[in-house]
Formats: sequence, structure tokens, C-alpha cells
Amino acid sequence: MIPFVDLKTQFQEHRDEFLQAIEQVLQSAAFILGPDVSRFEKEFADYAGSRFAVGVASGTDALHLALRAAGIKAGDEVITATNTFYATTAAIELSGARPVLVDCNPDTYLIDAAAIERAVTPRTKAIIPVHLYGQVVPMDEIRLLAEQHGLIIIEDACQAHGARYKGQVAGTFGTAAAFSFYPGKNLGAFGDGGAVTTDDEDIYARLIALRNYGSPQKYLHPTFGMNSRLDSVQAAVLSVKLRYLDRWNSSRVRAAARYRNNLSGAPDIKLPAVAADSTHIYHLFVVQVPDRRDDILQALAEREIYCGIHYPIPLHLQQAYAYLGYREGDFPVAESAARRILSLPMFPEISAEQIDAVCEALLGLKSFF
Ligand SMILES: Cc1ncc(COP(=O)(O)O)c(C=O)c1O
Repeated sequence: MIPFVDLKTQFQEHRDEFLQAIEQVLQSAAFILGPDVSRFEKEFADYAGSRFAVGVASGTDALHLALRAAGIKAGDEVITATNTFYATTAAIELSGARPVLVDCNPDTYLIDAAAIERAVTPRTKAIIPVHLYGQVVPMDEIRLLAEQHGLIIIEDACQAHGARYKGQVAGTFGTAAAFSFYPGKNLGAFGDGGAVTTDDEDIYARLIALRNYGSPQKYLHPTFGMNSRLDSVQAAVLSVKLRYLDRWNSSRVRAAARYRNNLSGAPDIKLPAVAADSTHIYHLFVVQVPDRRDDILQALAEREIYCGIHYPIPLHLQQAYAYLGYREGDFPVAESAARRILSLPMFPEISAEQIDAVCEALLGLKSFF
């Protein structure tokens, strides 16, 4: 059996470190916003090369609270990609703003900068570039656009812990950036978690209040806030895992190279393109097959090889977004990709034998193509 993601092996390899970190939180009983959270925030900010990091309850909250802290509100429009996870647009809606969707690049699947420019209106206030599958959107173009139109950039770095563009780490290209620590992410907790990084002191101060009932001091609530804190236990686990993140990302890069090598002779299988100036950290390894993707997925599952689809329905075609008024055909690149993409098993501990077995099985299904 080859799982899509294997979290058990990683736990077994570092079991003692994890249990020691968790036990120490339990002994201290500092479960909420204790020293483990502050320590992890400092470590994560240092890792990302950012002044501040604020731990929150999830990547969705990280996006939502970053938008709010940056002043996004009802009546504003926020542009993002149609081929992202639902949480990106849910966060825009939570801030009160309206999601405006655009198409993606057919080779990298990253948001199309020219399409962003066409979608700008007088109500546009922000762009959320999504560093999808583990590579950073070409940020020079996005920053230029944002400057020309006076827009805020909030990065969705939920799939891009440690990914780089021109040597600079994801999470440092805009006003703020959102990370998810969902267990399967490159840096994943043992439950939900998230963080916002920012260099802006005012935004930092607002985030600290927003995640804690809007409360700078107990029983004082000068502004809106909610309960969205990173748990101390998760912070302690993340501190352990952060030490291994670069090593794990390198293992993913090696796994991707083996997939490429094994599949490069199959013209029917489209391999993921690496964007210029980008260091991909392969949160996902996404190929395209020409036809019958769902049958291929099923046939692989019958051979106990488990793949994923990220994502089968672009957001403009989701029922929840009928109110936005998009139609089938509006974003042909994303629509075509959604029918053909297949995410192959990918995790740092995946072995050469497992990768070879996935490729052999996939190539053996050529009659489906
Ligand atoms: C691109 C993207 N944005 C946002 C999120 C939301 O993160 P979370 O699941 O931690 O709320 C995720 C992960 O699930 C994601 O992949």
C-alpha cells in the first residue's frame, strides 16, 4: 500500500522528541498563549525572514485575520485564483469582502498576473497570490501590479513553507502572509494551526488583538476579535518539526526529481513546470493525464496506490459561489486542468521503491490515456 501522505513514519522517527515537547507543555499547564507559542512565533518569524509571526487556530483564520488586520472590509473586492482551496475565498468572505476570481498559468498552475490586472475595479483592495502546490507566484509581477493600482498583497502561503522566489522565502512578499499547519502540510501540527507573518508593527498589534477577543488587556475589548489562538501543545510540536523542515523539503525535492526522471519518457503525462526564479518545495506533485483521470485514480486505488486531486472543481463552479455569477467557460485553463490533474503520493519519507511503484503502475495504465 502506498498512501498519499504518510504521517505515521515521521511520528515514529521523531517520537521521543515529540513526546518530550508535549509532556513539557502538560507539566507546565500553560496551554493557552504560553511561552511555547511565543517561542515558536519567534522561530517561525526568523525562519521566514519576517519581523513578526502570530500563531492562530488555522490557515483559514490566518488569511481571514490578515485581511481584517490590513483593513479589508465589506464592499471591498479581493482578487485570487479560481484554482485554490475553498478556504482562500472563505477567508475573503469572512472579512466581509467579495472574492473576485481569475485564471491560472497552464504549466505552473499559479495565478495569472495579466488576468489579475484585467479583474481590477475601483473596489479592488487586495490580491491574494496563492503559492500553490509549494511554489511561489512570480512576485515581481504581482508587486508591480499592486503598486500601480494601490493594492494590498496578502500571500496565501498555506502550501509553501520554505518555498523561495529569487532566494527570498514565501511569507515576506506582501503586507502579510498566511500559513496553515494542517497535519499534511510541509510543516504540519498534530491538529489544526496557522500563523500570519508580517513586517508591519501595526498589523502585528491588530493581529494580536484579533486572535484574542480583540483584547489587549483582560476584560477590555476596544475592537472586534475572536478566539483564534495557536494551542501551546501544537506550538511545541511545531518547534520540533521546524528544525527538520529544510531537510524534509529537500527530501520532497529529491522525490520530485525521481518522479520526473521516471515519467519523462511518457509524452502523455504532463509534468509540473517549475516557475522562473522559483525553489519549489513540492507540497504536492501534480501531473496531468490527457483523459479518464477519474478512472486512472480509481485503477491506482485498486492497486493500493492512493492519489489526490487538488482541486476537482474550480471555485467559480462551486455552488457556494453561484452568487458571484460566474459560468462554465469563464476560466478555461483552470477548468481544463481540473479535469486532468492528479496529485501523486508525496511526503518526505517516500522511498525510491514507492516512487518507482507509483510510476510503474501509472505507466501501466497507458491504455486509459
Ligand atoms: C491554499 C490553501 N489556503 C488555505 C488553506 C486553509 O488552511 P487550514 O486548513 O489550516 O484552515 C489551505 C489548507 O488547507 C490551503 O491549502
